Amino acid sequence: MKNKYTLGMIGLGTMGRNLLLNMADNGFQVTGYDKDARMLKKLEEDGKAHNLKGFESLEDFIQSLELPRRIMLLVPAGKIVDSVIQELVPLLDKGDMIIDSGNSHFTDTSRRAIELSDQGIHFFGMGISGGEEGARFGPSMMPGGDKAAYNAVKPILEAVSAKVNGDPCVAYIGPGASGHFVKMVHNGIEYSMMQILAETYDLLKNVLGYNNEQIYNTFEKWNNGRLKSFLLEVTRDIFKVKDKKTGGYLIDVIKDQAKSKGTGKWTSQVSMDLQLPIPTINESVSARDLSKFKELRVALSQALPHQQIKVEDAAAFEVQLEQALYFAMITSYAQGLHLLEQASAEFKYELNLKEISQIWRGGCIIRAVLLEDIYQAYKKQPELPHLYSDESIQNQLKEIIPGTRNVVITALKNGIAIPCFASALTYYDSLRTDKSPLNLTQAQRDFFGAHTFERIDEEGIFHADWNENN
Ligand code: 6PG
Repeated sequence: MKNKYTLGMIGLGTMGRNLLLNMADNGFQVTGYDKDARMLKKLEEDGKAHNLKGFESLEDFIQSLELPRRIMLLVPAGKIVDSVIQELVPLLDKGDMIIDSGNSHFTDTSRRAIELSDQGIHFFGMGISGGEEGARFGPSMMPGGDKAAYNAVKPILEAVSAKVNGDPCVAYIGPGASGHFVKMVHNGIEYSMMQILAETYDLLKNVLGYNNEQIYNTFEKWNNGRLKSFLLEVTRDIFKVKDKKTGGYLIDVIKDQAKSKGTGKWTSQVSMDLQLPIPTINESVSARDLSKFKELRVALSQALPHQQIKVEDAAAFEVQLEQALYFAMITSYAQGLHLLEQASAEFKYELNLKEISQIWRGGCIIRAVLLEDIYQAYKKQPELPHLYSDESIQNQLKEIIPGTRNVVITALKNGIAIPCFASALTYYDSLRTDKSPLNLTQAQRDFFGAHTFERIDEEGIFHADWNENN
């Protein structure tokens, strides 16, 4: 049993177990550890074909691993990661490697990497995306940390990852906590895409009056085109699921209050710290939080009703809605990638946006055919200042913006909340405005606080006596 296994997994819940099964399918000698005997039993049952076995004793588990040890953690993010590390470290040797594959906050990963490197242990933060299915049959993975140590797990990760045109959906992301940072931003984009799909549902239902079957058919039609994506497929399929209890559609009996585990909020928080705006992602985080005020929403919907306005041409509106959804999708990726670029400079992550868009094309929750265009854009121009700067994206924008404007206007006239659609359009307009009105902001700041301003016709810092002529 001693030094027999290539990799050991700590945490044999659904994700950990499925990833181990995936590794075993790919011919790797792997094992697991979990305090919960039921999890060990489940691993043995599911992994019968590969004779997969786990350990109940941490010491025996550690002794069973090849040197230098490769240990992967798939335990809930937060304090549990620290306590597992604390238990582990006295049993490890210098050169061993711990890979935290949960959704840890990147600042925790930075701290842990520094603490562990002092003890000669390589610590990796690796984002995994794709849910249970992905872990079992091919996720997208975002590992960051010491590059030499990464090479020790590279063959395993490449083998188990999803593949697009034969390319593995895993790549070394960069040093430090870059892996977890990129996964966090992935989730920010995920929140935004989920919200634009929710807004689309609202408009199909409440502007066009579509029933669930018509909504299913519309999403099915769109998913055969440029909108094709995992999240649209999932969303489409929701509209055909019936509720066992009532016999009606399940979607209609689900409370309209969304929860979250925090990765979207973290993305927004970092964007504020880095002063790199991602308003559409922010709106998606706020939309979930606003949904919680159900009682207030019900009371205000009665106190402040709004009259619906009929859409003249329903077929045309449906076409425009597809365009608006595509536009908001482009914008969600654009904001996330822009944030990654800024973070890379700030935190010295050395991020390669071409590779990141490449590994997001398969396996992960935000996979979409659009990512192929994005990948091509960064391949053509690795220093692309913004996704909107790419010529082929610009050509698409020119086509879809007029329809998007009409969707936003129609929703606003109908009093339907479309925080992400509206913010995406305003973001777009802000970025394509050569003369913004923010000269006024500078004048105001100088007027009441002597904060100074710069002039368009002369270098230097100026202050005016604003009351002179009053
Ligand atoms: C993934 C998902 C995964 C999970 C999110 C959900 O990439 O596989 O992002 O990590 O579904 O954590 O996040 P919320 O619970 O915050 O919606």
